[in-house]
Amino acid sequence: LDPASIVIAVDGTSGSGKSSTSRGVADRLGMRYLDTGAMYRAMSWWMLSNGVDVHDTDAVAAAAGKPVITSGTDPLGPTIALDGADVSVEIRSDKVNGAVSPVATVPEVRARLVSLQQEEIARALAAGTGIVVEGRDIGTAVWPQAAVKLYVTADPAARAARRAAEEGGTDADAVRVSLESRDKIDSTKGGAAVPEGATHLDTTPYTLEEVIAQVIEIVQTAAGAT
Ligand code: DC
Repeated sequence: LDPASIVIAVDGTSGSGKSSTSRGVADRLGMRYLDTGAMYRAMSWWMLSNGVDVHDTDAVAAAAGKPVITSGTDPLGPTIALDGADVSVEIRSDKVNGAVSPVATVPEVRARLVSLQQEEIARALAAGTGIVVEGRDIGTAVWPQAAVKLYVTADPAARAARRAAEEGGTDADAVRVSLESRDKIDSTKGGAAVPEGATHLDTTPYTLEEVIAQVIEIVQTAAGAT
């Protein structure tokens, strides 16, 4: 089991430290990194920018094939582009935070993005780099055969505090309400389950460096077992 040839599937909740952990692990092991949440966010931003009502399931489904979404998979500087234009900043806006859950529940959106994600993974494996893929349904739907599967969580208060810090000092209480509302929608639709065979990591008491070290140990143990 060589990092150059494996997929690490990282699922879990927003603000659990999933993104920073995934990027850190990918960087340390010389792997690519794919943020699938960014793809759902880019799809949502496209809908908002093109006058599609994000609560109109039929309209979202009909438009799901239109946006051209490109992901840059360098763990030190991941990028996301829509029709060739970088939208890294736009996808973190409040407008997108409010739109992404309804958009992500539309089956046509999920089918399209899952297939783009599978293509990206196949590309990394073909290039011999391996890839860390972060999302909600990676170990269940996108790449169930991943060599290593993680399910990352943290206490709600810790998650809200981290997200608020990430978002530049916004009010942690407001962030917690928004996170909890997205969790509720995310957990009531298909896909956001704990993957079979996943290692559960509760990051609440640990620093980022500690969590990265734990994951690298899990990868090494998996490597020893094969
Ligand atoms: O991880 P995030 O907060 O950037 O994810 C944004 C939204 O996209 C969140 O509502 C869950 C959804 N999502 C999803 O449904 N499936 C994925 N693989 C990744 C994200």
